[in-house]
Amino acid sequence: MTIRSTRFALAVLCLFGGGIQAADLTLCVDRSSPMARTDVAVAQAVASQEHSRAKIHFFDGSGDDEGFDLKEFNALAKASCDLVLGFPVDADAPGLPEGLKATVPYGHTGFVLVLPTASHATSLDNLTRGTRVAVTYQTTPNLFFAGHPAITSDVHLTDAEGLAALEKGKVGAAMLWGPAVAKHLAATRETTRFRTLELTEAHARFDLVALYDDDHIEAAHRFEKAVDALDADGRLGKLLAPMAMAGAARRIPDHRNALWRSPRRTPPGAICASGGGRPPALFTIAQADAGAAKYSDNCAQCHGPALEGRAGPALKGKHFANPAANFHVGDIFTIVSQNMPATQPASLPPDDYVEIMAFLLRENGYPAGNTKLTFDEAKQSTVPLVSDAD
Ligand code: HEC
Repeated sequence: MTIRSTRFALAVLCLFGGGIQAADLTLCVDRSSPMARTDVAVAQAVASQEHSRAKIHFFDGSGDDEGFDLKEFNALAKASCDLVLGFPVDADAPGLPEGLKATVPYGHTGFVLVLPTASHATSLDNLTRGTRVAVTYQTTPNLFFAGHPAITSDVHLTDAEGLAALEKGKVGAAMLWGPAVAKHLAATRETTRFRTLELTEAHARFDLVALYDDDHIEAAHRFEKAVDALDADGRLGKLLAPMAMAGAARRIPDHRNALWRSPRRTPPGAICASGGGRPPALFTIAQADAGAAKYSDNCAQCHGPALEGRAGPALKGKHFANPAANFHVGDIFTIVSQNMPATQPASLPPDDYVEIMAFLLRENGYPAGNTKLTFDEAKQSTVPLVSDAD
């Protein structure tokens, strides 16, 4: 692009966007969270809403045996990013890592009761006496048994183990972190076998906020303003579903009455809204062919030669590009280009990432065309990621 056309593009932005290109926003995303993809999507949407770019800094919030030290958030907010996304604040006992501030909540989530679809229960109160309920070690639902003496606890080390116990029928219900359940049900397509209910017990509901320190107040204001606009026209709700519900807390002062919606599928119409029936041609055949070779060299050992998944998850088909998950090409490209290969993140030349992305798209049923995909286009792309492969 020539200098003149850059100026022209900026002038157009000024006319229609009402402002000059804002500085990049650097956002920290916990790669170990079931909401990591959602956080990336929110970051991208916020940046594009305010005509800036999102730089994602991934961190691993899973921590060691003791969990993730709250002090780590200070280090992240000071040195690594403007805002740390996706921090859950207990709605009944709000607390933040010391020295940090929080944006207005942009979403709500919490612990849910997962039940076989056939169960008639509508809350913990009316579960059949003696029902065994799976919970995860050191999570708040362990406290709920005291108020419901008719049910017994079955403690697991991870949410995945609790869900497995439910799937095998070893327990009659589970009380687990909503986003983890939503991710699991979408990936296993078990949405018809189980249903989820909000838990109304104390400490079950959480607000999602972004954390920042005193040096990043301006970035926090930009974030809040963009979130407001995304919330107002329903875009935020679509980004957060099925992991959480959108909405600033100030509009729902009483958390007990909040309309926490259980994880559910995106309405089929919503998926095609931006793309029409068939996805657009985003890359050339030559790019996808080159990407196939680079995929085998750099990715296949963890994701499988046929993208079927091994140490890393499958990168093909409904488990990967699930309509219910509501992800876009740009979200996945950001994860790939900044986080992969898992052992050496961001170590490949930019064009290699673009070619590998072209290959991933082709494998998931996207058509090749005459125009080359560029790094920036891949990163900004809001084309929905929905596979037509099995
Ligand atoms: C050493 C193993 C390893 C290698 C090599 C590797 N990955 Fe991954 N990848 C993982 C693991 C583990 C995860 C899941 C956890 C995470 O996100 O860190 C993952 C996650 C992903 C995801 C997100 C999937 C989802 O459903 O959210 C994508 C996309 C991805 N990898 C693409 C790639 C690509 C493309 C390459 C090659 C450039 C690659 N990976 C190389 C291990 C690997």
